[in-house]
Amino acid sequence: MNIARKGPGAGSRSPRARLVSSAPRRSLNGTWQFRVSPGLAAAPDDGWDTDDAGWATGEQWTTIPVPAHWVLEGHGKPAYTNTRFPFPIDPPHPPAENPIGDYRLVFDAEPEFLDNAVLRFDGIESAAEVRLNGRLLGETRGSRLTHEFDVTGTLRAAGNVLAVRVAQFSDASYLEDQDMWWLPGIFRDVDLVAVPERGIWDVFAVTDFEAADGTGTIDLTVEFNGEASGRFRVPELEIDVEVTGGGVIGAGQVEPWTAETPRLYAATLQTETETVELQLGFRRVEVKDSVLLVNGAPIQIRGVNRHEHDPDQGRVFSAERLRQDLVLMKQHNVNAIRTSHYPSHHELLRLADEMGFYVVLECDLETHGFVDLDWKHNPSADPAWREAYLDRMHRTVNRDKNHASIIMWSLGNEAGTGENLEAMAAWTRAFDPSRLIHYEGDWSSTYVDVYSRMYASFEETRQIGEEVLTPAPFSATAAEMHRRELPFIQCEYAHAMGNSPGGLGEYQDLFDRYPRLAGGFVWEWIEHGIRTEDGTGYLYGGDFEEETHDGNFVIDGLVSADRKVRPGLTALAHWYAPVRIDVSDTGIRIQNRHDHRDLSHLRLVWRAESDGKQAADGELKLDTVAPWETVEVPLPEQDAEIITVEAVHLDRPEWAAEGHVIARGQRAWLNPAEVPLETSVPQREAFDAVSLRLQQLGGLKLDGPVVSLWRVPTDNDRRPGWDEIKEPPYAARWEELGLDRLRTRVVSAEERDGALVVRTRTAPPGRECAVDAEYTWRRVSDTAVTVEIGLTPDGVWPVEWARLGVDLVLEGAPQGMDWRGLGPGPSYPDIAAGPYWGDHHADADELLTPFVLPQESGARAGVRRASIGTEQGTLAVTVLPGGTSGGAEEVAVTVSPYSRKTLASTTHQHLLQADGRTHVSIDLFQSGVGTAACGEGVLPRYRLAARPGRVTLLLEHIQG
Ligand code: GAL
Repeated sequence: MNIARKGPGAGSRSPRARLVSSAPRRSLNGTWQFRVSPGLAAAPDDGWDTDDAGWATGEQWTTIPVPAHWVLEGHGKPAYTNTRFPFPIDPPHPPAENPIGDYRLVFDAEPEFLDNAVLRFDGIESAAEVRLNGRLLGETRGSRLTHEFDVTGTLRAAGNVLAVRVAQFSDASYLEDQDMWWLPGIFRDVDLVAVPERGIWDVFAVTDFEAADGTGTIDLTVEFNGEASGRFRVPELEIDVEVTGGGVIGAGQVEPWTAETPRLYAATLQTETETVELQLGFRRVEVKDSVLLVNGAPIQIRGVNRHEHDPDQGRVFSAERLRQDLVLMKQHNVNAIRTSHYPSHHELLRLADEMGFYVVLECDLETHGFVDLDWKHNPSADPAWREAYLDRMHRTVNRDKNHASIIMWSLGNEAGTGENLEAMAAWTRAFDPSRLIHYEGDWSSTYVDVYSRMYASFEETRQIGEEVLTPAPFSATAAEMHRRELPFIQCEYAHAMGNSPGGLGEYQDLFDRYPRLAGGFVWEWIEHGIRTEDGTGYLYGGDFEEETHDGNFVIDGLVSADRKVRPGLTALAHWYAPVRIDVSDTGIRIQNRHDHRDLSHLRLVWRAESDGKQAADGELKLDTVAPWETVEVPLPEQDAEIITVEAVHLDRPEWAAEGHVIARGQRAWLNPAEVPLETSVPQREAFDAVSLRLQQLGGLKLDGPVVSLWRVPTDNDRRPGWDEIKEPPYAARWEELGLDRLRTRVVSAEERDGALVVRTRTAPPGRECAVDAEYTWRRVSDTAVTVEIGLTPDGVWPVEWARLGVDLVLEGAPQGMDWRGLGPGPSYPDIAAGPYWGDHHADADELLTPFVLPQESGARAGVRRASIGTEQGTLAVTVLPGGTSGGAEEVAVTVSPYSRKTLASTTHQHLLQADGRTHVSIDLFQSGVGTAACGEGVLPRYRLAARPGRVTLLLEHIQG
């Protein structure tokens, strides 16, 4: 086995479409014999792969499921690196420490496979040598690509010996340096597929739609097995024609396919020995004047990047997980998927056609690690790798070429640039002119059809949108002139790592404003956590004793590895919604944000609530609202506290849960709470003698309030961001300043105007900048007090704060919270869309977001009143009207079973130890979260420069 040779695999048949066929197929998945050796030199040649079904496996042998990754089956360990190779860059040589897996299966074959068949492997990481009955069939390269080997004449009825030697690393590893776990093994299906004589080897059906007259065409190319012809039928279109090699078939009037209207027509191609089924979607993808069009109309990509990942199975395909993903995407208004950074399992395409997603299908290619050598030796520019590159693209395009959902072929990800990529583009363009070619790494856009970037800043994105609105500069080069004709997409933006991504609304506004900006794909869909053995948590890079790794950078998704929705996805659903509803004092504005359909498939229902009760409801009657049209209707009700308008389906699609809301708009005019009239000076015994913090409220034991300015650093706070003015990350600057170690001194305590007035000064150690606080306490009853809190910064604060608020600690673990405000999920200033006004509840385990790396989370914003349940009773916090003192009308409340210190010092969610108390933060202001983990930091408008704040709270111990 030569795994150091820069070439493609060898011996397999030419790649073809994955067809739904009547040809017999037999899965060879199941339990195989298996052993692993530490390196190629150590892998025994002891007769295991000869034509001897009776060969006795020795004690190094065990069994393994196929498909699976052997490192997730107890043989070795997974390893994570982002861009760098975990071995020296010495192409095409893999490292000597290179686990080799030997797989062996003895099987019988039914008669229908004996005349003519192929053995099909859908995915082996990273290189394999395949032998059947002692005969070398060939080698695979391209871990996520299909290889079919002809077994005609070699396969026999009984006792076939299939022997597959798999190298964890190979020359191919240099081309597969994606930011993900290194997970070797036969991890996708293995099948025996009959190839009937006079049957169908391959079909390529290019469908087109002419928007001007509503007609479709099918350009068919068929490759038969031997002398044959077939009948091609599309019953719904009354097409029934004889096909010998292909040609263009007029389909007449058709309903076009779009991601919004995924109309498919069932077609069959039949010979005397085989029938294949196709699902045809008629659509045209094109670029005109730097705008991306589908069926003549501009489209907006509302996309996500999707890797394949399961916390237990890695990249092994699971139909349930896939469906779960696509259903969640639909439910959150996602309309596009980039299969980062390799072709997904082919089932994704079938579902994308059917459910309606635009797909950017990416080739299995990334050579990112060469960036560390300034791209020296990059295979993309080395002619010796040319065939390997082309082979990857041939396999990518051929397998999925019949899927309407694919609108672009992507050459790969982060592979620098070079002639091999150009060759891939040229071949693809000639083979399939019906789709566009995408590759982000072609920075001058000479061989691509879309201008693509990742994490372009707001300002740069704006400039890219704007530049084509004015004539080209006189000095523009030919390449620049070409690029000006191209639409722009962000193939990655809004990095969803931890408490993130901030700034979705700002990007969306730009996409809306400039026709050239065709939207983008959020990075990324799934967190790649690997489940702990005891099932209580997830692991990340470095948890498997890797010497070289990139920590938790692999945990950056809109959903957890188990597909729990992270708050970023709720925000995304708002910005991606195909309808926008704004309710204001004067009326309701409804914008249809579909590209291809009016709103007649939706209902717009409204309800009016006061005092937490529904007062009235109804439905808005709209005339036809064309794509991108905005209409205004009057408010149906004037004097309610909250008016909510929701867009729901008339006929619920199968992916939508009962009562699914597509988009929501609200207007809240919440009545202020009543101020207690009778108050007196509170008793001193309720306060700590030294700190003068409240210790007792009715039967509740508590401690606080104390000024708080810090948060447990989020993933974004820990990284510097891509801002032009380079500052160290917030986490480092806060720590340097001592924001996490504030100290408070009581300045004075006196009775004044029937109240106890306590003044304190809070400052970091070794600094003189401070926050002066004044707490004015009034007793309302045995179980209630009010406190007016005035916070005033003093001196020069060298860094923005994370929050301005106060902390309280209650005895007893938290048991949940009820509140009136925004919910049910958390929000921070730049990730605030999604939560809505109302009366909400969170159970104890919903108070915080269980991010794999513990960090600040869970703030419920817009809170007017919150009842915080603890083991010892309930504390109700009510914001009293600010009146003339300009106090806040609402606060953000965060309730946690962990202290910030615990959260900040614990590496994994499942290792957190609760201390049996309830940690409450009541904030007047919070900093945004930004997306500095990869991209721009917190925008200036969401940063929290030192500032004063004021609020009056009613604190009550609620009995029972
Ligand atoms: C991009 C890359 C992705 C991922 C992301 C950061 O540069 O294409 O694969 O690494 O950054 O999470």
